[in-house]
Amino acid sequence: MAGYLVEDTRKVTTSRLAEMKRQGKKIAMLTAYDYTMARIVDGAGVDVILVGDSASNVMAGNYTTLPMTVEQMIYHAKSVVRATERALVVCDMPFGSYQVNSTEGVENAVRIMKETGCDALKLEGGAEIIDTVRAILAAGIPVCGHLGLTPQSINKFGTYAVRAREEAEAERLIHDARLLSDAGCFAIVLEKIPAALTERVCREVSTPIIGIGGGPADGQVLVIHDMLGMNKGFSPKFLRRYADLDAVMTDAIGRYVTDVKSGDFPNENEKY
Ligand code: KIV
Repeated sequence: MAGYLVEDTRKVTTSRLAEMKRQGKKIAMLTAYDYTMARIVDGAGVDVILVGDSASNVMAGNYTTLPMTVEQMIYHAKSVVRATERALVVCDMPFGSYQVNSTEGVENAVRIMKETGCDALKLEGGAEIIDTVRAILAAGIPVCGHLGLTPQSINKFGTYAVRAREEAEAERLIHDARLLSDAGCFAIVLEKIPAALTERVCREVSTPIIGIGGGPADGQVLVIHDMLGMNKGFSPKFLRRYADLDAVMTDAIGRYVTDVKSGDFPNENEKY
């Protein structure tokens, strides 16, 4: 694996993630939805690539993640898997593909695994989906949980505000994290909850905890379009922007337009 930015180029597995938590090594996770982006993300040393249903927002322009279908997730995950050598690839199960019952959940989980070649799946929810989580795990499929702000339930929440500020919801979240951990999930994403609650879950649950808007955890995940500055309209407090690709791309594309219109492109060296 030439060109990798990390020394340890072994393929990341779920057991490596558990080992990283035990050794206090942080886990870096990022989303990707297509071949080219996944190749760059993998090469830069990200441990886990999430083919998130946030593709609905950043790829398709929808307001929520609800419209994503199993077929669309398979298309994105297949493209990412083709590009990835080192990272563990996790695919989101889309809204409606696992909430009806366990049988349907396992059927869709098996289909996504078979058709994409991804390494694991992510499902949103705790006690309400625990039977399905157990059934998917029993089929031999690694599962990542997702608690706190679970975007597939946005219509129930009615807001993208911070979750579990109140004691009752915080206790429910800790109970759910224990359920998912005891069931055998290899990781749990905690989204947009108070940092003190994330810290408590990290301490009390042996499963690696990946935060997004939840303060320090065993690892972090961000949506790649957000951290690269391609999504100007989205700037929550938790987001750290590592680039301003909107500006870089707008400048490059603007110069291309100017060159085409002026006749400067293509020049003598750029033709056959
Ligand atoms: O779909 C997604 O990108 C996610 C992350 C925000 C964790 O679930």
